[in-house]
Amino acid sequence: MTSRQVAFRVLRRVESDGAYANLTLAAELDRSRLSDADRRFVTDLVYGTTRMRRACDALVDRFVTSPPDPATRTMLRLGAYQLEFAGVPPHAAVGETVALAPKRTRGFVNAVLLKVSTTPMVWPSQWARLSYPDWIAERLVAELGEDDAREALQRMNAPATVTTRADGYVQDLSSQWVAAAVEAVPGEVVLDACAAPGGKATALAAAGAHVIAGDARPSRAGLIATNAKRLDADVATLVADATTPPFVAATFDAVLVDAPCSGLGALRRRPDARWRIEPHDIRDLADLQGRMLTACAQLVKPGGRLVYSVCTLTAAESIDHPIPDGFEVDHRRPDVGEWRPFRHGWRVLPQDADTDGMVVIRYRRAA
Ligand SMILES: C[S@@+](CC[C@H](N)C(=O)[O-])C[C@H]1O[C@@H](n2cnc3c(N)ncnc32)[C@H](O)[C@@H]1O
Repeated sequence: MTSRQVAFRVLRRVESDGAYANLTLAAELDRSRLSDADRRFVTDLVYGTTRMRRACDALVDRFVTSPPDPATRTMLRLGAYQLEFAGVPPHAAVGETVALAPKRTRGFVNAVLLKVSTTPMVWPSQWARLSYPDWIAERLVAELGEDDAREALQRMNAPATVTTRADGYVQDLSSQWVAAAVEAVPGEVVLDACAAPGGKATALAAAGAHVIAGDARPSRAGLIATNAKRLDADVATLVADATTPPFVAATFDAVLVDAPCSGLGALRRRPDARWRIEPHDIRDLADLQGRMLTACAQLVKPGGRLVYSVCTLTAAESIDHPIPDGFEVDHRRPDVGEWRPFRHGWRVLPQDADTDGMVVIRYRRAA
C-alpha cells in the first residue's frame, strides 16, 4: 500500500467508526511495509487532516453543491490538507489523492481539488481557519482573552515536541513541573491517586519518595507497573477509584490528584480530541474531579500537601473547585516551571514554553 492509501484507511476508521487516531495509526503502520520517511509522512497526513478537518471542509465546501459520500469526503479532506497545510506540490497532492478514488468519483475529486489548489481562500472565521469547534475557541477566549486563546489554539495545531527526562522517560515539560510542584523529599510516602501511565509517579519516586500509585482502570494501572519496573522506581501500583480511595485518613505526607480532564491544554497530543469533547464533558469531569479532591484530601496527614493538577485551561476544572475543608492554599510560586498566576493556582499556556497547557493548585492541611 502507498502512504496515502494507509492514511486514507486510518482516516476512514477515525471519521466513520469513531476510532482513535493514535491507536488506529499505530496498528496500520505496524501492518504496513513503509519506510521510516513514509511513516512520518502518513503520520502527518493522518494527524494533520484530523486536526484541520474543519478548515479542510471549508476549503472544499466552496465547490460542492451537495454533501459528498463519507469516503469521498475523507479523500477531499486529505487532498485539501496536502494542498493547504502540508506543502505538498499541487500536481502530487491532486494526482495521488485522485488515484485513491474509485472510477465513479474520480472526475469529481479531481475537479474539486483542482479548484481548491487554484482559488484563494477567504476564511469564514478565524476559528474555521484554525480548525476548532466554535465552542472550544469561544470557551478559551472567555477564559484567556482573545489574543492568548488564539495563540494557544495555534500552538496546539503543531505536533508536540518530545522531551526526555534524565532517566529516559519521555514526558512533557509541564508534567515534569507538576511532579516537581509536589516537592517530594526522600523517605516521604506519597499517593498519586490518578497515576497511569506513571509519568509523575516515577518522577516522585526519583525524588526519593515511596510512591503509591493508583488508577481506576486495570489496564492503565498495568502501564504504571510496567513503567516503574523499567525505571526501577519505588512505586507500588494498585487499581483504585480516587473518589473512594482504599486508605485510612491522614496516611500520606503528600497526595497528588492529577485528575482526568477535558484535555483542552493538550490538544496537540490528540488530534481527534477537539472533535470528541463536548461542552457537557467539562461539567461531568468537574463533578468527578470535585469528588476526587474531597475524598483524597482526607488522606493527607496534618501539615501535609495536597496537589491538584489538570492538563486543561478552564477554571471549571481547576480553580473553581472549593478549597477542601481544613486546607489552606499554598500561595508560593512553584520553583520549577513557567507558571502564570491563575487566581489561587498556577497555569502554563501552550505558547509560554512550548509545552502542554496545565493548571496546578497546591494546598496544605492544617497541622
Ligand atoms: C491525567 S491522567 C494521569 C496521568 C499520570 N498522572 C501521569 O503523569 O502519567 C488521569 C488518569 O486518571 C484515571 N482515572 C479516571 N477516573 C479515575 C478514578 N475515578 N479514579 C482514579 N483514576 C481515575 C485515568 O484512567 C487516567 O489514567
